[in-house]
Amino acid sequence: YEKFFRGDILKGKKVVVTAGPTYEAIDPVRFVGNHSSGKMGIALAEAFYERGADVQLVCGPVNVEVAYNGIELKRVTSALEMYTQVEALFPTSHVAVMAAAVADYAPTTVAGEKIKKSHELLTLKLTKTKDILKSMGALKSNKQFLVGFALETENEQENALKKLSSKNADLIVLNSLKDTSAGFGKDTNKVTIFDREGQAFDFEPKSKKLVANDIVDLIIKKLNEKA
Ligand code: CTP
Ligand code: CA
Repeated sequence: YEKFFRGDILKGKKVVVTAGPTYEAIDPVRFVGNHSSGKMGIALAEAFYERGADVQLVCGPVNVEVAYNGIELKRVTSALEMYTQVEALFPTSHVAVMAAAVADYAPTTVAGEKIKKSHELLTLKLTKTKDILKSMGALKSNKQFLVGFALETENEQENALKKLSSKNADLIVLNSLKDTSAGFGKDTNKVTIFDREGQAFDFEPKSKKLVANDIVDLIIKKLNEKA
C-alpha cells in the first residue's frame, strides 16, 4: 500500500534519525539507562518517510513498532554503538535529526561477571559518552541540515539556545517537561523550535505524530529557504 500515500516532497533526500534510549552495560545482566520510549524519534522517521525521503533510523532499545518496512532500521544498544552507526551514515545524509535520549555517562569499565552484593556500598565510576549531535555538528557541511533536541527542566530557552550554538545545529527542538502533555512514554508532546536566526516557533500540545509533522514541515521550509 505504501506507494499510495507516500508523498514525494523529500524524494531523493537521505535522512538519518536517532531515537530511543541507550543502555550502558554495568555487568552482563545490568545497565544504566533512561525512560525514553523512542516514540518521538520513530514518529519523525515515519513523517520523513511519508514525504518520500530515504530514511535511516538508528534506534536504541525500544518496544515501539516502526510502521513502514521501507525505513532502514539499525538497532543499537549503547551510546558508542549509536555513535558508530550515525558517524557512518551522516556524511551522505542531507538531513539528520538527533531525537535519541543518549546516555551522557557510561560505566568506565564493564564487569566481566555479575557483580555480587558483597558490600554495603557500591560505587559506580562513569565516563562521559561521545556527544553524537555535537560531533556531527563539527563534521557538518553547509549543504547538510542538522536538528537536535533539548530536554530541560529549568532555564529552558537559554539552555536550548546554548545547545543550538554549541552543537552547531540548524534547529533545536525544546521538549518542555513542565507541560503535562510532554514527557517519556506519553503519546503527546509540547515543543518550541529555535532556529539560528533567533526565531522561536511555538506549537500547541499535540500527539507525537502531529509534532513530528510540524518538525518535518519546518525543516522542509528551511531547506527551501536555503536552496
Ligand atoms: N545527544 C547526543 N549524544 C549525546 C548526548 C546528547 O547526540 N551523548 C543529543 C541528543 O540526542 C539531543 C541533544 O544532544 O539531540 C541534546 O541532548 P540533551 O540531553 O538535552 O543535552 P546534553 O547536551 O546531553 O546536555 P545535558 O543532558 O547536560 O542537558
Ligand atoms: Ca543529556
